Amino acid sequence: MVNLSIQLAPKHPRGLLLANPVMTASGTFGYGTEYSHLFDIQKLGAIVCKGTTLEPRDGNPQPRLAETAGGLLNSIGLENIGINALIKEKAPIWASWHVPVIVNIAGETVGDYTRLASQLDGVAGISGLEVNISCPNIKAGGAEFGANPDSAAEVTTAVRKATSLPMLVKLTPNTSDIAKVAEAVAEAGADAISLINTLKGMAIDIAKRRPLLGNITGGLSGPAIKPVALYMVYEVAGAVDLPIIGCGGITTASDALEFIMAGASAIQVGTASFTDPRAPLDVLEGIEQFMKKEGIENISELVGAARR
Ligand SMILES: Cc1cc2nc3c(=O)[nH]c(=O)nc-3n(C[C@H](O)[C@H](O)[C@H](O)COP(=O)(O)O)c2cc1C
Repeated sequence: MVNLSIQLAPKHPRGLLLANPVMTASGTFGYGTEYSHLFDIQKLGAIVCKGTTLEPRDGNPQPRLAETAGGLLNSIGLENIGINALIKEKAPIWASWHVPVIVNIAGETVGDYTRLASQLDGVAGISGLEVNISCPNIKAGGAEFGANPDSAAEVTTAVRKATSLPMLVKLTPNTSDIAKVAEAVAEAGADAISLINTLKGMAIDIAKRRPLLGNITGGLSGPAIKPVALYMVYEVAGAVDLPIIGCGGITTASDALEFIMAGASAIQVGTASFTDPRAPLDVLEGIEQFMKKEGIENISELVGAARR
């Protein structure tokens, strides 16, 4: 037997213990319910739901998806059911699951984030929050909250005060120094740090001579971003003393093991679920097989192995 369990929030009074390090990435696995008939999703370490806002959102104009070499561009624009429907319709289902569900939250102002956090506090079926700071800060002219350490820390401090739940803060790669942002977020009270969100990109339809996406720009994900994500995880793991959740292009168990060896305690599978919904489970089984083959009893032996 190998021990795959990991503690994602060691500094939190209740902690957030996962049976294994494989999570789903926000926006690529709905609310989990859409996938529960395809495989036993409760074998996963945790489910992270679609980014949730105060009001329901229809998202950006179509087209909102474009395939690129080794990747996917999306400009979904946070289409979601809104927090009230999430609490009423989704949380009661999650409360009957043993797999922890983490709610990803998104806002345009610090006040949006704190209202979301306080409304979710104490709701049965919700085990933690993941604060998506890759959102435009309306008061600061639309720059992403996570683009600089000060605004990243401001949101983190405010959400920390508004919730007693374990809090993951999800970083954007669209910044000049992600380690500085990670340090600021750690200082402001994050329990763990997830990274990375999508990289800003675009595509052009040459027949129409127009940007391909209705929103003009979008976020790049998938295997194309894996080396960038891995590098950023390596940087951040060297800068902060918090569990790190690696994300970006993870498709196979060996991808996941690279992130773990770079310093991630857990990983998220995102775009890979669109080509194969079972990808998160295959990644988990592959990690387990690797550990057995290598005679590793505890996953913690592999965390940061490439740094030592
Ligand atoms: C269609 C789509 C929707 C996404 N929606 C969200 C979201 O609502 N909140 C969020 O924090 N990240 C969102 N992401 C980013 C992913 O969670 C993940 O950070 C990113 O795609 C990189 O991982 P991947 O390459 O494995 O997909 C979305 C990604 C995609 C492709």
